[in-house]
Amino acid sequence: MQRTKLVYLNGEFLPADQATVSVLDRGFIFGDGVYEVIPCYGGYLFRLREHLERLDANLVAIRIAPPLSHEKWQHVLQELVASNGGGDQSVYLQITRGVAPRDHAFPARTKPTVLAMSNPLQPLPSELLAKGISAITLDDFRWQQCNIKAIALLPNILARQQALDVGAGEAIFVRDGAVTEGAASNVFLVKNREITTPPKGPYLLPGITRDLVLELAAENQIRNHESTIRLDDLEQGDEIWLTSSTKEIVPVTQLNGKPVGAGRPGPLWARMLTVFQDYKQRFRSGGYEAS
Ligand code: PDD
Repeated sequence: MQRTKLVYLNGEFLPADQATVSVLDRGFIFGDGVYEVIPCYGGYLFRLREHLERLDANLVAIRIAPPLSHEKWQHVLQELVASNGGGDQSVYLQITRGVAPRDHAFPARTKPTVLAMSNPLQPLPSELLAKGISAITLDDFRWQQCNIKAIALLPNILARQQALDVGAGEAIFVRDGAVTEGAASNVFLVKNREITTPPKGPYLLPGITRDLVLELAAENQIRNHESTIRLDDLEQGDEIWLTSSTKEIVPVTQLNGKPVGAGRPGPLWARMLTVFQDYKQRFRSGGYEAS
């Protein structure tokens, strides 16, 4: 029998089709909220502490008091994942400033709306990984606080769609000649067997997968740097990768219609993916993380 999918909304677990939010919710009206996407492997939440720490930082940035402690989150999310069948899932959680008459000013004494839901997490098709994806570069027309994981994603959506419209898989933003990130991913460049990703700052999301890739690179003697990547560097790269919690590490083999390096996924990507999958496998079987 098909299990009814449950979501967590404001303290209750409900069937997804019965979980409703007011039209006056500030998330709906203003995009006034933040979110997280947390992968879950073998029923265990991956890099949970890091995701919750980023969530805390985001809540501070938009001035919402944390509605749940880390312990409570862990409990809620584990229950959610278990009730939706365990295994590999992607957990989405979102906090908005809550329901109030429409007014730009923060409402007084409004309770945040807290939602968590989960969906099966499918690995990327192996044919896609074998070929890599194509990407386009676009002027970064977003705001100056891209480090906040805001639910207001209109620029990211428009950028991704612009990529899809020309048959590419992702758009990579470039601000004043410097690469920032993808529409929903962080960017890595490989040149001469060294990997580089832009440093953290206001123009990109501090990706959890990005940090893990850097950590695993260091542990595996792969030379890595956090430094500015100019668009010309990207165009001259041997390899380009995109990272995110749902796509892990994806090779980009075409940029703006031209081959990246040899035009196929590169050797350092293959090595890093193996290291990443090994780490994930250890985590999946034990549910613990070496930190
Ligand atoms: N997005 N940059 C942007 C703009 C993103 O939206 C994401 C992820 C990342 C990668 O971050 P992380 O490694 O922590 O997933 C970088 C998620 C997956 C999403 O919006 O669905």
